[in-house]
Amino acid sequence: MNPAIEVSNLSFSYTEEGNTIQDVSFSIPKGSYTTIIGHNGSGKSTIAKLIIGLLKAQSGTIRILGTELTPETVYDLRSHVGIVFQNPDNQFIGSTVADDIAFGLENHCVPQEDMQALIEKSAASVGMSDFLQAEPTHLSGGQKQRVAIAGILAMTPDIIIFDESTSMLDPQGKASINAQIKRLHDEKNITILSITHDMEEVAQSQHVIVLNHGVVEMEGTPKEVFAQEAMLKKMQLDIPFALKFSKAMQKEGFSSIHALTLDEVVNQLCQLKSKH
Ligand SMILES: Nc1ncnc2c1ncn2[C@@H]1O[C@H](COP(=O)(O)OP(=O)(O)O)[C@@H](O)[C@H]1O
Ligand SMILES: [Mg+2]
Repeated sequence: MNPAIEVSNLSFSYTEEGNTIQDVSFSIPKGSYTTIIGHNGSGKSTIAKLIIGLLKAQSGTIRILGTELTPETVYDLRSHVGIVFQNPDNQFIGSTVADDIAFGLENHCVPQEDMQALIEKSAASVGMSDFLQAEPTHLSGGQKQRVAIAGILAMTPDIIIFDESTSMLDPQGKASINAQIKRLHDEKNITILSITHDMEEVAQSQHVIVLNHGVVEMEGTPKEVFAQEAMLKKMQLDIPFALKFSKAMQKEGFSSIHALTLDEVVNQLCQLKSKH
């Protein structure tokens, strides 16, 4: 089976001096949930823009669902890939939240009679039901991010790229959107590529790519990547709260606690309690 996204020996530079992206290769299987982490300026958004053909690579290839990205294929391929940009202000076209979600659906040839229900469902899934008639420009940063996510969720493309799309939400808002993304992935088999600083989200993904100065520094499951705490620290990256908590508990002698997510912490604490 063709991977959803296959990036091979990709290099890109904005200027003459030095490469922003240097010989990057990775493969994202269909239906998988991958996160990309890396400090600010490591080239994450640049890779997202290269994948959707907004920027053109100096060398290397990108294949989406088996087809090479070229000026000839880019428009067709974009119908399979939805992206939520880092800055939600760049994403709005409609004069109301409902119009904005509708606009994306029209572009995806969704029949008129299905549209209203889809708009309402996707707005509800990100907690924005009360804002359907609001003007996007009047919303807070976090609300804009929710609407941008709703617009993409409504379209259910084969692949969704999230570029720090919950960065302006509070921890509760993040957790709720992360749960939506995970549900969408589990239920609809959508391929997710999420660029994030939210280590709780990374912990719920299947595969992690660590970018550093435009190079893939590390790659693996969340467990494998978070085991390299010293190396992550060097790159100014953190580990999830659940893992920090586990380590503290292990120091206190509770060797059976080793969790990456809060759900795992709760389960393991309950098991511990039932043994005593
Ligand atoms: N339009 C641009 N022109 C010139 N340099 C840019 C542009 N956009 C980003 N850069 C530079 O490219 C590098 C990677 O940026 P970016 O991909 O936005 O990183 P990240 O998303 O990981 O924070 C940074 O050094 C940034 O300053
Ligand atoms: Mg970025």
